[in-house]
Amino acid sequence: MSGSPVVTVLPAAGSGARLGAGMPKAFVEIGGVPMLVRAVDGVLASGVVDHVVVVVPVELVRDAAGLLPGRPVTVVPGGADRTASVAAGLAATGPEAEVVLVHDAARPLTPAGVVRRVVGAVRAGAAAVIPVLPVTDTVKTVDEAGIVTATVDRSTLRAVQTPQGFRGRELRLAYARGPDPVTDDAGLIEALGAPVATVAGDPLAFKVTTVWDLRIAELLLADVPAHPAGGVRSTG
Ligand code: CTP
Ligand code: MG
Repeated sequence: MSGSPVVTVLPAAGSGARLGAGMPKAFVEIGGVPMLVRAVDGVLASGVVDHVVVVVPVELVRDAAGLLPGRPVTVVPGGADRTASVAAGLAATGPEAEVVLVHDAARPLTPAGVVRRVVGAVRAGAAAVIPVLPVTDTVKTVDEAGIVTATVDRSTLRAVQTPQGFRGRELRLAYARGPDPVTDDAGLIEALGAPVATVAGDPLAFKVTTVWDLRIAELLLADVPAHPAGGVRSTG
């Protein structure tokens, strides 16, 4: 750990409607460990994050804190959508957080290397940094009837993951302007006219959205040795 404080805001207050597990998604276990615990430990295992603000449904603040003993975390209640939850987490970071990461609890297998690349790029001067992967499928646009209207040039497309990294000042400014819930965090910085840099993402940073994704995560855990903090190793 060196330099100015790095704080991660971890939105974990969603309901997980598409997963349909009967509980908020971040509390669903993968290999016996709740996703939010894996996500927190993965971020801390990077060695470049000082503190994590975990944002959960209001009725689960105590439960979440109980799942995270001994970690440098603050648990706060979230809002009706992800943007409101990130805003609540950001408000709890304090002005001394010079680098702020925003990272979905729903990406529990994110390798420490992705976190280090994002923080490294912010420290190197970028106002906003996102981890990305090339798009491998052919992508087409269609009309209302499902008829293809165009084939998109995939060479300029990137799929975006988290953690997204920011100079704290810029992110607080973007949220102070009243964020648009359909725009991701980096999109808010784009709207301010600042460049958003990219670093290499990692397939292991995929988001658990559906039962299929949960199954894939379970299979990957069986395949990849656990590291002491409870995450998984990767080449990153
Ligand atoms: N999130 C949040 N507060 C909300 C909605 C979402 O903190 N009101 C968080 C989720 O907990 C998740 C991340 O944002 O870690 C990404 O959202 P998503 O994958 O859509 O999770 P859910 O909203 O929980 O899932 P669904 O959309 O299927 O209900
Ligand atoms: Mg959602």
